[in-house]
Amino acid sequence: MKATAIAHANIALIKYWGKKDPKLNLPENSSLAVNLSNLTSTTTVAFSDDFDEDSFSINATRENIEIERLIAHINLIRDLASTKQKVKVVSENNFPTATGLASSASGFAALTLAAIAALGLKLSEKELSLLARRGAGSACRSIPDGFTEWVAGTSDKTSYAQTVFDANHWNIAILAVIVNQEKKVVSNTVGHTLAQTSPFYQTRLLRVPKKIKAMKQAIEDKNFALFGKILEADAIELHVITLTSDPAIIYWDPATIRIMKLCQTLRQQGLPVYFTFDAGPQPVLFCLQKDAKKLETIIRSTKGVLDIIVNKPAEGARLIDKHLF
Ligand code: PMV
Repeated sequence: MKATAIAHANIALIKYWGKKDPKLNLPENSSLAVNLSNLTSTTTVAFSDDFDEDSFSINATRENIEIERLIAHINLIRDLASTKQKVKVVSENNFPTATGLASSASGFAALTLAAIAALGLKLSEKELSLLARRGAGSACRSIPDGFTEWVAGTSDKTSYAQTVFDANHWNIAILAVIVNQEKKVVSNTVGHTLAQTSPFYQTRLLRVPKKIKAMKQAIEDKNFALFGKILEADAIELHVITLTSDPAIIYWDPATIRIMKLCQTLRQQGLPVYFTFDAGPQPVLFCLQKDAKKLETIIRSTKGVLDIIVNKPAEGARLIDKHLF
């Protein structure tokens, strides 16, 4: 009754922002993402009659855990197995949780796979993705391999992610740049709710299907310049929505803007690098593998940069034999 899973964080290439159904985490729009090799959550789950209560620990602490959200997710899984057994969950992120890098996607993907396996249930990749989505929307994209598309769908059973290109498709590097280690002020949950208050939100929704099509084609053709152009435009559009929500949400820091401008300068100098970010201040930079070392050195010496985690596209969630307890 014990199982351990590892899952990678993912960064959206075309962003998910706004929910059609907050309870089911049904998104207003489809999205594209890629799994990140060096940002992982490893989670061991055990169910037993011997446990008196549910217990959760993340990075060896019980603090700062959204306990109700975790119990709600475990309850969905307990219902599937018709069990009332209590659970013990121990989870570790290989990156500091305080970095502001989204750990909910990798966390809920690993939790879902480990809990399902611990109860001896067999689910397809699609079913695992549907279920992970209930914990955190973007977690559904950390279940399949490589570059993924989360098709918005219209119901619990039609909203899930699948691989569009596998992790080995393209030799690109993805640098997660940490410029701020404070917990962000406005959570994604609140941000998604405010999306509708932006006067530009409906326009964005109309534009997304075309962007997804163009982005998939750019990845298929390995057209890095076009990929980067669409990537940056969509990241900026997400922040146009947050900046024009009521109340406005300002996620960028001075260092975020400094790095956006630096990307433009580096491109003019012949180094192809493009930025994106989630709903937060940390820039995530895309370059070709061959340029990764050079770019890392430049970014490390940029004012305001605290750390960099270099990634390549990664596989999806999987079970491993090494348990955390
Ligand atoms: O899955 P959530 O509710 O944490 O929302 C993720 C939202 C963004 O990171 C801004 C975009 C995305 O598609 O991941």
